[in-house]
Amino acid sequence: MSTAHLTIRTAALADAELLHRTCWLELTLEFVELRLKDVLRRNARGLAWGVVVEIGGEPVAYGQLDRWGERGEICNLVVAEAYRGHGIGTALIDHFTEIAAGNGIRLLEIGAAASNPRALELYKRLGFVEDRRVRLNLDHGEETVIYLARRIA
Ligand SMILES: CC(C)(COP(=O)(O)OP(=O)(O)OC[C@H]1O[C@@H](n2cnc3c(N)ncnc32)[C@H](O)[C@@H]1OP(=O)(O)O)[C@@H](O)C(=O)NCCC(=O)NCCS
Repeated sequence: MSTAHLTIRTAALADAELLHRTCWLELTLEFVELRLKDVLRRNARGLAWGVVVEIGGEPVAYGQLDRWGERGEICNLVVAEAYRGHGIGTALIDHFTEIAAGNGIRLLEIGAAASNPRALELYKRLGFVEDRRVRLNLDHGEETVIYLARRIA
């Protein structure tokens, strides 16, 4: 599979049901809707960007950029299982890097559970460097989360 035919676009509330089915089966539909409503509300104030990756008209990935002053945090990154390992995650991170650069964000951060070494390896390969470790509850009880950061040129 090549990423040539994928579309990256702003997420809408109407994406909730399909995203729930393709990417977030472990969450309730209500929770997915709340997540999208929250990002749309903050997007209107220039504080967050939620994007969907579509292939053949179907949403197959989601990611979000939250702004905290001059810092931006990429979060809630997920690619539907059947589509992983084909460059979609990388395309999303590149997309957020462009949004960040165009919106005065100087430092881009991304966090992953210490128990998710493949995601951490990917972020390091894309130039992110470990910054700090925190204990957080990412839906499965408290665990160590590693935050990595990369300066925006
Ligand atoms: C992590 C994730 C977003 C990366 O997206 P992706 O489209 O698979 O990433 P890319 O194709 O651009 O890059 C591939 C690299 O991602 C990493 N990766 C992490 N988890 C992976 C998975 N389950 N399958 C394939 N690649 C994965 C690997 O480093 C892989 O490189 P490799 O094949 O040389 O090992 C995606 O795999 C995913 O949704 N995983 C489950 C949810 C998750 O862990 N989210 C991140 C929370 S911080």
